[in-house]
Amino acid sequence: MMPFLTDQWYNPSSGYRAAKGVRKALEVAHEQVAELIHAKPTEIVFTGCGTESNNAVLSFLASRSQGDQKIITSAIEHSAILRHAEYLSDRHHLRVEKVGVNSDGRLCLDGFTKAIAGGDAAMASVMWANNETGVIQPIAEACQIAREAGVAFHTDAIQAVGKTVVNVREVPVDYLSISGHKFHAPKGVGAMYIREGLKFEPMLYGGGQEGGRRSGTENVAGIVALGKAAELMKQRLDDDGHAGVAALRDHMEQRLLSELEHIQINGAHDHRTANTSHISFDRCEAAGLLILLDEYGVQCSAGSACMTGKQQPSHVQTAMGISASQAKSSLRISLSIFTTQEDVDAAVEALKKAASKLRSVQGGPGVGPVQVFSRD
Ligand SMILES: Cc1ncc(COP(=O)(O)O)c(C=O)c1O
Repeated sequence: MMPFLTDQWYNPSSGYRAAKGVRKALEVAHEQVAELIHAKPTEIVFTGCGTESNNAVLSFLASRSQGDQKIITSAIEHSAILRHAEYLSDRHHLRVEKVGVNSDGRLCLDGFTKAIAGGDAAMASVMWANNETGVIQPIAEACQIAREAGVAFHTDAIQAVGKTVVNVREVPVDYLSISGHKFHAPKGVGAMYIREGLKFEPMLYGGGQEGGRRSGTENVAGIVALGKAAELMKQRLDDDGHAGVAALRDHMEQRLLSELEHIQINGAHDHRTANTSHISFDRCEAAGLLILLDEYGVQCSAGSACMTGKQQPSHVQTAMGISASQAKSSLRISLSIFTTQEDVDAAVEALKKAASKLRSVQGGPGVGPVQVFSRD
């Protein structure tokens, strides 16, 4: 990034020779991101964030809808899809149909098939991987169902790209969203994939950057970083598919399961991104756990970062049939490629200490009848 924040400050759209190198850097970033998802460089459009990518695609698809159609999505999407879908439904007289998930957090394909079979869909948007549980969705199947019915298919792949294999040639989605800071690029840069030959009307009009699909002077340093991060993640995925991160996550879960009573790991074990673990701690309010963990030097969250401070159980856990009390005692623990075995072991010790402390105050195992988690 540094050259583009210092001496290579030129506007890539400028005609003078010095700007040529900056234009070239943008071209390279298109190639790097394209390679990560097996797309063509011209199918990649840089944006300001993942939310913008989601909004731009859904806005376009809604704008060409006819009245009384519906937006099909899932019940576990990020608010960058759900809140926007609600807005679009008002603006364009559309209905929003949220297909449920099974108790393992994966999209209910029967429900999705039925929703599509209604024949009144303006679009379908299903996330590739969930941000709270890390659960990877049956995206190839959902895409196929939508394709067979001729329904435009978008995927919010923000939690999947860089963490698991995303190949748009094998899973031929029409539109896909990416966010840089989910795989070590900086915050404030994202991208859209728009399959070659598909129509697209931009959300931002102006100077015609990004092939006229996203006007506005480019965040060159951010885009260059996103490109480099894509290249590095592609390398890692090719090398070991993040097996090292998955092994550390599994080690953490194994230790917690054997050393701490009454916990539950949520979400389909075999269909998760390597870095995410979603755990319920019986008789521990997540809010209390977070405060203690922060004190012990461990930062994690309950639900998504965007939901911090909200008191309701997350819509993702509710959709999975997790009871309100269990949802309020659940944490999302994320690892990264920089997490070490020492970090994980320190986190396990901190979790044990925090849970024991809360249970001794709130009445833990041995103090009264243990409440067994129920699904409601
Ligand atoms: C699944 C998902 N979609 C969308 C977003 C929003 O991305 P951004 O923060 O880049 O706008 C996030 C960010 O947490 C996410 O996890």
